[in-house]
Amino acid sequence: MSATVDATQVAQEFADIFGTSPDGVWSAPGRVNLIGEHTDYNEGFVLPFAIDRAAAVAIKLREDNTARLRSSHGEQTTVTVDLSTLSHDTMQGWTAYPLGVVWVLRQLGVAIGGFDLYLHSTVPSGAGLSSSAAIECAVATAFNELANASLSRSELVLVGQRAENEVVGAPTGILDQSASLLATDGHAVFLDCRTQESELVPLDLAAAGLLILVVDTKVSHAHATGGYSARRASCELGAEVFGVPALRDISAADLPEASGLLDTETFRRVRHIVTENQRVLDTVAVLADGGPGAIGALLTASHASMRDDFEISCPELDLAVDTALANGALGARMTGGGFGGSAIALIPAAVEATVRDAISQAFADSGFTVPDIFAVSPAPGARKIL
Ligand code: GLA
Repeated sequence: MSATVDATQVAQEFADIFGTSPDGVWSAPGRVNLIGEHTDYNEGFVLPFAIDRAAAVAIKLREDNTARLRSSHGEQTTVTVDLSTLSHDTMQGWTAYPLGVVWVLRQLGVAIGGFDLYLHSTVPSGAGLSSSAAIECAVATAFNELANASLSRSELVLVGQRAENEVVGAPTGILDQSASLLATDGHAVFLDCRTQESELVPLDLAAAGLLILVVDTKVSHAHATGGYSARRASCELGAEVFGVPALRDISAADLPEASGLLDTETFRRVRHIVTENQRVLDTVAVLADGGPGAIGALLTASHASMRDDFEISCPELDLAVDTALANGALGARMTGGGFGGSAIALIPAAVEATVRDAISQAFADSGFTVPDIFAVSPAPGARKIL
């Protein structure tokens, strides 16, 4: 599958399916989180960037109250929904992402009637690269424009998050939608998840002779179930016992006191968040002073913290990280929610082939599924592309 979305082709496929041209085509990217994992719902800091893999939606408004939705993935069937009966029960499978956004926008009073929608995404799903947020942000950007809603990008972030939380049922934070909506070419987004204030931080890897490789382990995860919500619950417990609104309010100097108040497991969860927040701040400072070549140790320390304290890594992610580091990577870590998905490695461009081959070989030797390995660089955020 080509990584780049071809707007003309998406419009053509829409026309082939629905027999008419779309009103427009909008795209929103997936993301890699450079550092700052599980800090978002703790009102802390994150530093993601958008990648050049995106979800594109072609949409045409209809005169009635019917939505017809079709995706280039999976079963080639068109889902038809009467929007007057739109409820959690009528939003099934992949349609929960676009319809969830429509549902939230309508809750906010945005007038959205019937429409035909065709989705084509090049963000691999279940890979920890925010395939779901990419769909939500493309749809939110499209209807914001089509319905003249004039919502700000920060408001659209919250629309996407609400769709994810209330319709899809995943208790996620604002990292993914913020990356998809706020990113620009050549920059990472430094975001304070408490205030939603953000700053674009230059991230010119090529000028430093570097690149970031994504290793999609093909170990699939879902955040609506299991470990993700358990981690969130531990963090909320930690904040409650410590008597603060969110773990954002605990600093490294508070950790000895926290260790006396919390059970050992909760303490380790808290320690990850507290140290990870500091690593995000340090990464931003080091990037400004020394450029991307100087942040490797922070990335690797982040992985160790997720592996040992937050316990969200898995053998495939650890192998990808360790093998990259043993073959010349400056730093490496898992990225995204964890329990599978992708790792990233910051490497000198000159060792790309060596690192790729070593990881492929290590996975083969361990009997793991063949990983998908590809380079990414900071790409633009959500926008109309046709
Ligand atoms: C997933 C969630 C985000 C964030 C990350 C972990 O991607 O959707 O909100 O919590 O995990 O950093």
